[in-house]
Parts: sequence; C-alpha cells; structure tokens
Amino acid sequence: MTAMIDDRRETEPMTASAAFPATRLRRNRQHPWLRRMVAETTLSPADLVWPLFVHDHEASLPVASLPGVERLSIDGVVKAVDEARQLGIPAVALFPVVEPRLKSDDAAHATDPDNLICRTVRAIRRQCGDAVGVICDVALDPYTSHGHDGLLHDGRILNDETVEVLCRQAVVLAEAGCQIVAPSDMMDGRVGAIRRALDAAGRQEVCILSYAAKYASAFYGPFRDAIGSATALGAADKKTYQMDPANSDEAIREVALDLAEGADMVMVKPAGVSLDIIHRVKQSFGVPTFAYQVSGEYAMIHAAVANGWIDGEKAALESLLVIKRAGADCILTYFAPQVARKLA
Ligand code: PBG
Repeated sequence: MTAMIDDRRETEPMTASAAFPATRLRRNRQHPWLRRMVAETTLSPADLVWPLFVHDHEASLPVASLPGVERLSIDGVVKAVDEARQLGIPAVALFPVVEPRLKSDDAAHATDPDNLICRTVRAIRRQCGDAVGVICDVALDPYTSHGHDGLLHDGRILNDETVEVLCRQAVVLAEAGCQIVAPSDMMDGRVGAIRRALDAAGRQEVCILSYAAKYASAFYGPFRDAIGSATALGAADKKTYQMDPANSDEAIREVALDLAEGADMVMVKPAGVSLDIIHRVKQSFGVPTFAYQVSGEYAMIHAAVANGWIDGEKAALESLLVIKRAGADCILTYFAPQVARKLA
C-alpha cells in the first residue's frame, strides 16, 4: 500500500499576523478580477469527458430522465465527437443501447467485433482520427438479459468467469480503435487480467481507466433507463459487487489493488456524493483521479431547474468545480458540452 501523503497545509499553525483586523479575508473577495486571481481551483473544458449514448437507429431519441441527453445514431455520435473537439473536450465515453434481441444470459454480443459500440468506435476513428479520445465501458450490463454487469448463475454473479468475458470485450474494443478501456463492472482482479489480455493482443498502448471505487448507488437510475438495463434488472441490485456507500477504507484498498494491477487512471463514482473519497484517493496515491458525475446527479439539478428552484447553469458549474476542488483531475459529466461552451 502506498503511504498516505499528509496534507501539511492543514496542520500549519496560525501565525500571529493572521489575526483580525490586520487580516481581513473579505479583502481578496472584493472584485471579480481579484477573486479570479486568488481562485485555488479552476474548471476548463480539458477537465471534462462527455458521456454519449449510441443506439442502432437513425433518429435520435431523448432520454426522459436526462433532459438534453439523447441516444444518438453512429453518425450523431461522430458529429458530437467533432463538437467535442471544437469545444476543447479531450474525450468522450461511449455507452451502447443494445437491442433486446441481442441481449442474452452469457452477454455473447459484448465480444462481437461488429457490435454497435465497435462500429461506433471505428466510425469515430475513421472520421475524427485521434483528435478526441474514445473511452469505452468494459462491463456486461448493456448485453445481459438480466441487466447485471457480470454472468449470473444460481442467483450469484460469477467473478472469474465474468473476467474472462471482460478481457475479450476489452480486446475487441481496443481492436476497434478505443484508446481507453474503462472497466466499470467491479469484479475482483479484472484490471490485471485485462492488462495481460491487451498486452497479449499487442495493445500495450491502450490505457485502463478503472472504475476503482464504484458504489452501489441510487443515482444510476436515469442511466439504466437510457441503456435499457433498468427493465432487465428489475428489483435486483448490484450490492454484491459494487461498493457499500458506508465504506471509505475499502475504496482505498480497491484503488491500491487496481493500481498494482496496472490501472493508468482510477475513477470514483458517483462524484458529488463521494467528495471525501475523491479527496482521499488523490491524497493517498497522487495518480490521475477521475470522477463520474452520474446520471442521477445531472437529473436532480435539471429537476430543480424545471421547478424554477435553482439556476441550472450556476448549479452545474458549482457542482463540477467542487468535484475538482476535492481532487479530481477529470470529470465525466452530461453537462460537458454546455459547460465547455460557457467556459470558452
Ligand atoms: C454500468 C455503468 C453504470 C454507469 C456507468 N456504467 C450503471 C450501473 O452500474 O448500474 C452509471 C452512469 C450514470 O449513472 O451516469 N456498468
């Protein structure tokens, strides 16, 4: 385990000059330009990743619980990627809406090199080159008839058997041109196994962004609506593999293991209700730390906006700024295009 880096600034004693009235902290807050100069955290389009949903239809289809978010055709995704490039957003994260007839208990379609997500990745790389990074989830939930991220047997999620499928899924994604694979399934040992599988396939250059500390959260609801895994999952939950929100030390162990197994970046999810975890992970390991402002967080802000209760733009900016302040280097957020436009 990596040693905790202690945050010295927090333990420094107050000096005598810190006393009022010589010190007036309001002095630095007087003007917008002054506030900008002393800002400890900034937000830029380069801090954002834009999650995109792709489906196998020409017309785009709104996601009711995610206002402003649509399931796009492959062409629509290619256009969005070009928009990301123009906005200075460095990468997109792709999620497929898989036709129910292609879902099965063994998630076989996940490893088909001609599935929707692989075709989308190839189209992006063909038409947009390397201008914007492509991040793909490695997990089985879009492909399983039961909506779980892993293989289900006798009511239990099989770990090692799932990892084998995830390895094949990661390799087909890499071969399609995805530069970052992002295991979001929370099986044990999958990062190391995926690293070995990618290397064996000659894909040493492909990065692994591990969803290392992913909690069994109520805030994923709208995402599951968007990809259609909610109906499949029904009343079941993912608590035997996703983390208990009660735990923090365990998040550190998860991150330590994934780094030891070869993760290039780690993710904490959901972001807004895990600011303490983001902070601890960044302080403890000093590695690229990503955070996912998930669908439910986005939906909550929009719901309040729809009621006229809060200013959506300000709330979006603030919610993202504090995720960065907590220690995130990069944030996956459905607000990415609006916020990048605002920051431009
Ligand atoms: C599935 C996955 C989920 C999200 C990203 N990948 C949902 C889940 O774990 O059930 C959630 C993202 C969001 O809510 O925006 N492996």
